[in-house]
Amino acid sequence: MNKDNCGKNTKCVHAGTFINNETKGVNTPIYTSTSNGFNPETGNLYYPRCLNMPNHLAVAEKIREMEGGEEAIVVSSGMMAVSSVILALLKTGDHILFSEDLYGGTDYFVKEELEKFGIDYTLASTENLEKFESKIKDNTKIIYFETPSNPLLKIIDLEKIVQIAKKYEIITVIDNTFASPINQNPIEFGVDVVVHSASKYLNGHSDLICGAIVTSEKFMGRIRPYVINTGGILNAQDLYLLERSMKTLNLRVQKHNENAQKLAEFFEKHSQVKKVHYPGLVSHSGHETAKKQMSGFGGVLSVETNLNKEKTRIFISALKYFQEAGSLAGVESLISLPCETSHSKMTYETRCSIGITDSLIRISAGIEDAEDLIADIEQAFEKANS
Ligand SMILES: Cc1ncc(COP(=O)(O)O)c(C=O)c1O
Repeated sequence: MNKDNCGKNTKCVHAGTFINNETKGVNTPIYTSTSNGFNPETGNLYYPRCLNMPNHLAVAEKIREMEGGEEAIVVSSGMMAVSSVILALLKTGDHILFSEDLYGGTDYFVKEELEKFGIDYTLASTENLEKFESKIKDNTKIIYFETPSNPLLKIIDLEKIVQIAKKYEIITVIDNTFASPINQNPIEFGVDVVVHSASKYLNGHSDLICGAIVTSEKFMGRIRPYVINTGGILNAQDLYLLERSMKTLNLRVQKHNENAQKLAEFFEKHSQVKKVHYPGLVSHSGHETAKKQMSGFGGVLSVETNLNKEKTRIFISALKYFQEAGSLAGVESLISLPCETSHSKMTYETRCSIGITDSLIRISAGIEDAEDLIADIEQAFEKANS
């Protein structure tokens, strides 16, 4: 059943569900068999690595409908999604242009792996898109970017970046993890390929590692064989968990958005805070662009406080509801220091040059009651200063 035209909650609940005709159960059954019968009439050979089993098809269809692309696949991690798209679409001698505010793991992958394949790359600021455009070379085949970015929540104008790429017939790839398909659908703006760390909002319960890729039939025709050949797939139980989690994706993301907005407004007025990075704040440099291309501003914010390193440690340990953790987008609120976690592999100079200082705190707003979260932060600031 194609539910492309229904609302987000309806898609979350119903899209892709594989109904067993005998029991008519409301949930997709978990198909564990790796050996399956061959159908000589259709030539179908079901095998989990070939991305053709019902648990894969069900959740991939849900993600496809949420993002609005032609085809979707689910893979074993966000990094499998990122690396598969890059390595499937490029060959030796090609060049790829990245926005410089990348998730730390992607930055590490780029710097560690691409040279081995003879792929040239440039990381450039997207603050000024004309300057960014000047980094395009004759052999540039992909422009790859994140908006909102991690951890500074910088916003790139989707319409403008697509316009630039189309001028040179360059493929655009976005990591849409931070926004989730609830807040932003880049394919509507002409972006060619969307990747997700589905370990984040799509799953949302901090208990799965998985990734997703959504694109046109044309590009999936190159990406799918790469994933099948390299084998980065997810097992049936995990695919089922992801499908189950996604039924509440819209509800969760609305609450994440609401809590992050309230926290950002609270921090902005706080005497212990120098700067808040959150696209939902009018003071954020990307606010107007975000309003144009996002239907919600997301659940992540970052904050520069007046606390020194020692007081920051006291502040973090005094929190009751924000657990210090390296990941994000779970139902529980999390806090982290990007300099020690997601961006620890970057040199100190590179980190500071893109704004990831030692005093930058990243917060992933959970779905708890905002008043409790705010009270918790207030008492932790008091403890840090006592
Ligand atoms: C924006 C972004 N992209 C990609 C990844 C990688 O995802 P995974 O850990 O599922 O491989 C992450 C992980 O934190 C991320 O935050």
